[in-house]
Amino acid sequence: MRLATTTLTAVATATALAATSTLSPVATAEETAPVPVVESGYVSWSIKDSFLRYLQGPIAKGSVTASEGLETIKNNSGKITDFKFPVDAEKTSINADGVGTIDLNGAIHFLGHKGHGGEANKNGYGLDVKLWDFKVKLTEKEAVITVDYLSKGWNPGENKPFEDQKGDDVEFAKLPLTAPIKPAVNQTVTSESGNGSLAKGGVEAMMGFYEEGIEMAPASFNVKFGEPVKPKDPAGSSLSTGGIIGIIVALLALIGGGAFFANQLGFLK
Ligand code: HEM
Repeated sequence: MRLATTTLTAVATATALAATSTLSPVATAEETAPVPVVESGYVSWSIKDSFLRYLQGPIAKGSVTASEGLETIKNNSGKITDFKFPVDAEKTSINADGVGTIDLNGAIHFLGHKGHGGEANKNGYGLDVKLWDFKVKLTEKEAVITVDYLSKGWNPGENKPFEDQKGDDVEFAKLPLTAPIKPAVNQTVTSESGNGSLAKGGVEAMMGFYEEGIEMAPASFNVKFGEPVKPKDPAGSSLSTGGIIGIIVALLALIGGGAFFANQLGFLK
């Protein structure tokens, strides 16, 4: 009877340990449940309508150059009124709740006030702002647009050049979402934002000509999802190191815990 109790204890210990060790990979699998992959899409956003009018109007007499796949929408007078940023599907990831990052293609170069670059730069521009590497950081309720920027220009108030400003992945504008962009198998999901507001990085990119929180254009989002794909496990294995160690410990307990096979043989006799 004593031997039988020892055997049962050893088996119970081993089973409990094995159960513990296999539970953690199951939980990991739930967290990384397959999510429909992003296939393509675009974001339409004019940034700020009054800025496009100012830059292309009689005061700045400037130009807007779109590149890196960025499409522009023009009015009857040939002035750019909107931008269509293509989604870079490879670099985009959105989880089941609609939280993630949309990577956008497209770069914009604003030039204005030609010939007002100052004494040292007579043929230069008084306004020279480049924006690129647009990304949308998504939560269920908000889309934060981040950019890289390089801004140069003439400070008309102080009649001297501004220091060049540059930034990498700065928060440019924040837009409230009316609906989260939740992945749906083989479907195109759209969402409209309300009016945006300028974030701190946007104030710096626009060289302080706008205040933080000033109203920015609303955006519309269009994301085409495909089949569900299991996200890649960063560790490269579906079984965590802890899980593997747990199984080894359980096996050791099984072997060393109570001469399991010997006892089994004892019972058989
Ligand atoms: C030679 C240098 C510059 C001159 C003479 C100048 C002149 C002006 C003037 C007269 C306005 C008022 C326009 C209006 O009321 O319609 C204005 C607006 C503005 N300027 Fe400039 N500016 C210069 C440089 C810059 C630079 C370097 C920037 C940097 C981004 C800039 C950004 C703006 C912005 C954001 C507005 C407001 C546009 C809006 O109505 O939304 N300016 N500027």
